[in-house]
Amino acid sequence: MAKRRGKPPRIPQLGNHGLDDALHEYATSWSSSEPQGLEALRRATWTQTVKPQMLCDELQGRLLSMMSHMIRPERVLELGTFTGYATACWAEGLADGGMVDTVDVNDELHAIQDTYWELLGITNRIRRHVGKALEVLESEVLFEKDARLFDVVFVDADKEHQRTYVDWAIAHVREGGWIVVDNVLWWGEVLRVMDGSSEDPYATRIHELNECMKGHPDLDNVVLPLRDGLHVARKKSRV
Ligand SMILES: C[S@@+](CC[C@H](N)C(=O)[O-])C[C@H]1O[C@@H](n2cnc3c(N)ncnc32)[C@H](O)[C@@H]1O
Repeated sequence: MAKRRGKPPRIPQLGNHGLDDALHEYATSWSSSEPQGLEALRRATWTQTVKPQMLCDELQGRLLSMMSHMIRPERVLELGTFTGYATACWAEGLADGGMVDTVDVNDELHAIQDTYWELLGITNRIRRHVGKALEVLESEVLFEKDARLFDVVFVDADKEHQRTYVDWAIAHVREGGWIVVDNVLWWGEVLRVMDGSSEDPYATRIHELNECMKGHPDLDNVVLPLRDGLHVARKKSRV
């Protein structure tokens, strides 16, 4: 493997690790397409925001939607709303009366979120919280309207505090509930951390997080090499 230093390239849309884009495209083609409203939201994200590459891609979005349909959650927490695309994917499979709480420090994208959540008919299934995720998690706000633990926590905000977010999630997801963490391969840089050829601080923290989740006595886990990597963990029941 070629040795590479510095920040790894971001590959929009396609975007695994630069190794298997054709397969990724094939998998996307032969999976259900995103609903029209989400396609429009993707377009708006690419034309109206400064870092559209933060958007989850179509295949990943369909997986989140599929997971939501499988779990039928009543409570989902998303850290990192951005334009609300993944929020909408999680909302697709909610149980009747279910709700997605979503947190973002940036309040400048509310107009886009409002437009497309309205178009998708999901506005009443989403509670939006503005603020730094750490502060929101430390406050009681997520339990003011509903005291129940979460069925799913989706971690997709800043990468500096991912470990803290996951620790919080382990404590606040119900037994048998799910923790899903995005960007756990850091565009392949975790491999270079493993072989000692990279000291990238993000990749190092992410690799340590993956190690911690794999070894955690309360979790079963799968690291999916989809796009930039999705870590899916289930909180075990204590019986
Ligand atoms: C990768 S994007 C989220 C993408 C979104 N979940 C999706 O798939 O469409 C990360 C988001 O985290 C937000 N963010 C960054 N630092 C944050 C923090 N400390 N607290 C809360 N949100 C933060 C950014 O504003 C950005 O919108």
